[in-house]
Amino acid sequence: MNIEVVRTTSPRPRPEPGKLGFGVHFSDHMFVMEYTTENGWHSPRIEAYGPIQMEPGASVLHYAQAIFEGLKAFRGADERVNLFRPQQHAARFHRSAERLCMPPVPEDVFVEACRKLVSVDESWVPSEDGAALYLRPLTIATESFLGVRPSAAYKFIIMTCPVGAYYAEGFNPVRIRVERERVRAVRGGVGDAKTAGNYAASLRAAKEAKADGYAQVLWTDAATHSFVEEVGTMNVFFKIGDEVITPSLDGAILPGITRRSVIELLESRGTTVTERRVSLDEIVKAHTDGRLEEAFGTGTAAVVSPIKALGVDGKDLTIGDGGVGPMAQSLFDEIAGIQRGTREDRFHWLVPAEG
Ligand code: COI
Repeated sequence: MNIEVVRTTSPRPRPEPGKLGFGVHFSDHMFVMEYTTENGWHSPRIEAYGPIQMEPGASVLHYAQAIFEGLKAFRGADERVNLFRPQQHAARFHRSAERLCMPPVPEDVFVEACRKLVSVDESWVPSEDGAALYLRPLTIATESFLGVRPSAAYKFIIMTCPVGAYYAEGFNPVRIRVERERVRAVRGGVGDAKTAGNYAASLRAAKEAKADGYAQVLWTDAATHSFVEEVGTMNVFFKIGDEVITPSLDGAILPGITRRSVIELLESRGTTVTERRVSLDEIVKAHTDGRLEEAFGTGTAAVVSPIKALGVDGKDLTIGDGGVGPMAQSLFDEIAGIQRGTREDRFHWLVPAEG
C-alpha cells in the first residue's frame, strides 16, 4: 500500500509530562482512507489531525454504523517504539465490520496503517511509566441517505493520543457496581462487536454508578440479570479458591485482547482459566465463604485494574483486604513489563513501529 504522507504545518501543543489524562490530547497526524462500492478502499494517506467534513445526512449520524478499536504503542527502555498485538486488533475490527454490514479494512492494511502513523508521530509516544500512545481506529458510514440499509460509502480514520492511566485511581483498586436493571447488550445483538451504540447504551448506568462513588458497572445478562458479563470498559476475572474464572464469550461480551493475553499468561504459568458462565449468586456465596480472593478487570485502556469492592443490591462486598491482589499485581507487572521491554516478550506480542 502506498500511503501518502502530508506533514502538518501547524504542530499541535504538547501535553505536560505527568498530565496526560486519557483521550484528551491528540497528536499531529491522522491516517485516513475512503471506501465506495465502485472503488473499494482507496486514497490512503496521513495528514494533519483535524476536523472532517460530512453531510448531516451521513448515515452514521442516524443509524450508528460505527466501529472502532483501541490499541497502544509503547516506548521501550531502549527508546524503540512497539505496538501491542496489532494483528489481534485488526482481526477484531474485521469481525466488528462484518457484524455491522460494513466493508472490512484488510487486516494487513490496518496493521500497516497503524505502524506507519506511529512512526510519523513517533515523538508523541511518551516515555514515562504507565503511559502509551493510544491508537483509535474508526470506521464510519458517510453516505448521505436516510433510508435504513448499509451505507455505500465509509471513512476509515486512525487518530492517536498520548495517554496515562484510564481511571483516576491509576492502578489503585476500583469500586464497581453490579448492574441489575439496565442492559448493555443481549445475545444475538451487537455486544460482541466494538461498535459505538454499545457505549451509548452504557452511559446512563455508568453515570448513575459514578454518582454513587463507583468507577464503573458490572453488567449482568439481559435475560435474567443473574450472570455477570463484563465491566463498562473491561472484561472481568474472579479468583475463587484455586479457580480463576472469566465469563465465557457468549455473544454479548466483547472479546478483549487483554483478556486473551491474561488467559495466555496465566496458562503459561500453569494456572488454568475457566471460561464459563458465572452467576452473581456464586460470587456472593464465595464472598460469604471467604473464597473470593480477587477480582480484576482487563482492557487495553485500563490494562489490569484490581476491584476492591462489588456493590450488590445496595451493599458493598469488599474483596480480599480491599487492596491489590497478588495475581492482579503479577499480571500487571508482566504485561506492563513486556510492553515497555523490561520483561521478555515470550509470546511475540510486540510489533515494531515502522522505520
Ligand atoms: C479500550 O480499552 O481500548 C477501550 O476501547 C475502552 C474504552 C476506552 C472505550
